[in-house]
Amino acid sequence: MIDLKEVTKTYRTKTGSITALDNISLSVKSGEIMGIIGTSGAGKSTLIRCVNLLERPSKGHVKVDGQSLCDLSPSALRTSRRHIGMIFQHFNLLSLRTVFDNIAFPLELTGMSKDDIHQKVTSLLDLVGLENRGQHYPSELSGGQKQRVAIARALAGDPKVLLCDEATSALDPQTSLSILNLLEQIRDQLGITILLITHDMQVIKHICDRVAILEHGKIIEENTVAEFFTAAKTDIAKEFIASSIRQDLPKELAQRLQTESTDKNAPVIRLWFHDESTSQPIIAGTCQRFHVDINILQANLEYIHHRPVGIMIIKIEGEDDNINNAIKHLKALEIKTEQLGYITHHVI
Ligand SMILES: Nc1ncnc2c1ncn2[C@@H]1O[C@H](COP(=O)(O)OP(=O)(O)OP(=O)(O)O)[C@@H](O)[C@H]1O
Ligand SMILES: [Mg+2]
Repeated sequence: MIDLKEVTKTYRTKTGSITALDNISLSVKSGEIMGIIGTSGAGKSTLIRCVNLLERPSKGHVKVDGQSLCDLSPSALRTSRRHIGMIFQHFNLLSLRTVFDNIAFPLELTGMSKDDIHQKVTSLLDLVGLENRGQHYPSELSGGQKQRVAIARALAGDPKVLLCDEATSALDPQTSLSILNLLEQIRDQLGITILLITHDMQVIKHICDRVAILEHGKIIEENTVAEFFTAAKTDIAKEFIASSIRQDLPKELAQRLQTESTDKNAPVIRLWFHDESTSQPIIAGTCQRFHVDINILQANLEYIHHRPVGIMIIKIEGEDDNINNAIKHLKALEIKTEQLGYITHHVI
């Protein structure tokens, strides 16, 4: 649905040129929610603005729904853009217009009749949960409600694609979650393709099917969200994950980790469970079968894209051969294992 091919964007400034995007290729499938995450200045806004040509790429091609946007005449581009909705961090509502009139605005530009506009806006207000707010002004709404209005307005042109530039960054965590749920509901109900950019891993974790990391204008890693959390490759990806999931030992225990095995310590292993393995008695089963003792040092169950992922840090004690066999067994169950070091016996 969205195809960027070798897109480069260079800004010319008084002091020289800045390459904000450096040879980016990216595809988003129809009905998919794709997230782009990156630190400030990575090029996220530039990237999303290149999708509807609010910024024209210096090089490369942009295709949306099979149409090559860079080749269109200005008027054909205006028509195409109606099928690409966009929402922003600061909502960008017209403060002198009511909620109803904000949503009606793009429809008025298409010359739609008053009756049709009324019907359309009423159903959009319903969809975003603002049935009784049509006659209010933006200043009378909360941040979450303002973003709902912006979403309704973005959907007015029946877009196939919705672009979200940090759409939840100005909202508190709970409101942010309700907006993410609304976006997901819209994708499920209307089949819209969503491309969103964020610096917040919670957003990726909550609704994205796939994620790409943008750094200095390049995509340095791209994966499904489920794979991304357990098989991140780059340090930046690992930092993003660490910012959103508790996966390390508490400080008190981390300080006591040793790097060498001795007869006074035992291996400390981090396990990542997925889906079915989160609900099986794997630890008890491993203890019984391999005659080892397992102490849980830290445990956490997270939902990543509605799928459970368990992270557990354990200490395994017993005969060396038994410990090795127990670890082999866990690996064979497709539980990702990482050895963090060793810790002395009877530590807790
Ligand atoms: N209109 C412009 N003219 C010149 N340079 C620009 C322009 N817009 C962005 N840049 C530069 O391009 C780079 C990428 O900016 P961009 O706004 O895309 O980053 P971002 O990832 O969205 O950052 P943030 O998270 O802070 O919003 C930055 O170095 C920025 O200074
Ligand atoms: Mg930005």
